[in-house]
Amino acid sequence: MTTADKNISIDFNRVPKHVAIIMDGNGRWAKAKGQERTCGHEQGVTSVRNVIREANALGIKYLTLYAFSTENWNRPQHEVDVLMSLIVMAMSRELPEMLENNVTMRIIGDISRLPEDARQTLDQCVAATAHCTGLNMILALSYSSRWEITEAVKAISSKVAVGELKAEDINDDIVSQHLATAEYPDPDLLIRTGGDVRVSNYLLWQIAYSELYFTPTLWPDFDGAALRKAVAEYQQRERRYGLISEQLTEQ
Ligand code: FPP
Repeated sequence: MTTADKNISIDFNRVPKHVAIIMDGNGRWAKAKGQERTCGHEQGVTSVRNVIREANALGIKYLTLYAFSTENWNRPQHEVDVLMSLIVMAMSRELPEMLENNVTMRIIGDISRLPEDARQTLDQCVAATAHCTGLNMILALSYSSRWEITEAVKAISSKVAVGELKAEDINDDIVSQHLATAEYPDPDLLIRTGGDVRVSNYLLWQIAYSELYFTPTLWPDFDGAALRKAVAEYQQRERRYGLISEQLTEQ
């Protein structure tokens, strides 16, 4: 079925299962308006809400949002504090709507670094939505790929050390199973807002075959229509996974 929604056609049979987003440009959005950077983060929460709604409406099953990177801990303390409390407040405020829309909230990242009260609130949101079966909204919080891969290497080498695993049996699947994303499929589409063309330590293992979509739109201006536009462009791409076109049609 193809539906033209606000002039953007989506093929609902070919919606990406997993969309990952690097939400960038909050600070620049605020600066352009003569406001504090933190105002950009506040506006960014509205975009998060709109994008969750749209992802759900499109039938996307997994949406992974880069809310706070390992490197973000090095920002000025005031900004770290505002961002942390904003993320936690926003998630508990969105809880009723997530429940109403059958959205599950998950977290990946080193949350041991979060303040205890923040951790508790987020744990409650995760527990409260655990039974939901619609969109999986995964927050990457205190997350970086190098942290995640390092943790996986430690876990795998411990298993080898105690004889639970043989070094020669380690393969792609074993590595994937030791990542924070073990339960989720790899992203089909990675979106970065804010104009920069880089992947910033985000899901580096998992995006091996993802389609990459970069937009100059700053995160606070990114809305449901912007997500549909990215999905529509994704649907124009041919994913070959190292094969040639003719092999794809034979499958
Ligand atoms: C990057 O913009 C954005 C972040 C570091 C944080 C993202 C957080 C939000 C969108 C707030 C709410 C999130 C949730 C999940 C409720 P930047 O500050 O690096 O912008 P700049 O590149 O313009 O400086």
